[in-house]
Amino acid sequence: MAPGDLEQALLGLQFESDERILTGMGNSEDAAIVRFPAGKALVQTLDFFTPIVNDPYRFGQIAAANSLSDVYAMGGSPYVAMNIVCFPIATMDASVLREILRGGLHKVQEAGALLVGGHSIQDKEIKYGLSVSGIVDPENYATNAGLRPGDALILTKPIGSGVLATAIKGQWEGSEGFEEEVFRWASRLNRVPGEAVAKFGLRAATDITGFGLGGHALEMATASDCSIRIDVLSVPLMDHALDLARVGLLPLGSHANKHFCHKTVEASAGLDPVLLDLMYDAQTSGGMLLGVPGAQAADVLAWMRERGEMAVQIGIVEPPRLDGKRLSLC
Ligand code: CO
Ligand code: CO
Repeated sequence: MAPGDLEQALLGLQFESDERILTGMGNSEDAAIVRFPAGKALVQTLDFFTPIVNDPYRFGQIAAANSLSDVYAMGGSPYVAMNIVCFPIATMDASVLREILRGGLHKVQEAGALLVGGHSIQDKEIKYGLSVSGIVDPENYATNAGLRPGDALILTKPIGSGVLATAIKGQWEGSEGFEEEVFRWASRLNRVPGEAVAKFGLRAATDITGFGLGGHALEMATASDCSIRIDVLSVPLMDHALDLARVGLLPLGSHANKHFCHKTVEASAGLDPVLLDLMYDAQTSGGMLLGVPGAQAADVLAWMRERGEMAVQIGIVEPPRLDGKRLSLC
């Protein structure tokens, strides 16, 4: 393979001109210089992974939405991004790569950020994602550690992409519909909940990804020295997720999440065990979990729904418990 082949596939997809860019890849530079807004702090994050849907353009969008999400989860807005690409250029047509990158570019543009370059290597399997730099108000951002007793917990996407992705990978009957459902949610930017953090001055937020809802909730409860109560029946699920989990399509990572969490989680007797498993389902580009002071919860829910966002209160935050449990599923 000529080293130029990958670069050839990238041509025309990442060279943007914008007044914020002083110099960049349009001038064949290997780095970009971008103006930085005065008074802002930098949010820096990176993520990439293997395809979870078959359509390369859709995969590009999902991977980019996922990478951008960690900026939104802190209440920041994406500013510049760079592609991270692993691709088997010797055995796979470069048009597949172009479609992935086109999907990624479109999501970055939808987020109002600039794609200013990237790096690609040859690899046995496809991997794609972005390094993203965002900007945030240094006085106004959210973290895992910001929960307070009395906060409402609001979730902004349904759970189940791990189970559905497992069914797609296994070419389970009905895969096309599953792919549709995963794409619908996982390609969706967490922009509106990110804006809610800034607008309402929220202090606690995370995005739900590989550790599942339960794992990420537990991280927040521990970092905030609180405990969390989740009403399992109020948690929105993706179409087909419960049926597929019931026939055993929970990915290995989701089982590992449950095992990792079990010492600090209490589950009420009588809950559907499959539904409980789904609380640990590893998500790709999942929704945000926001901690919202109780008095603000109705306003935040209404504000997000007015903007077309799914926003569901799934639980509350309580003081730390004497028995050391951090999460109760009831
Ligand atoms: Co991440
Ligand atoms: Co995250």
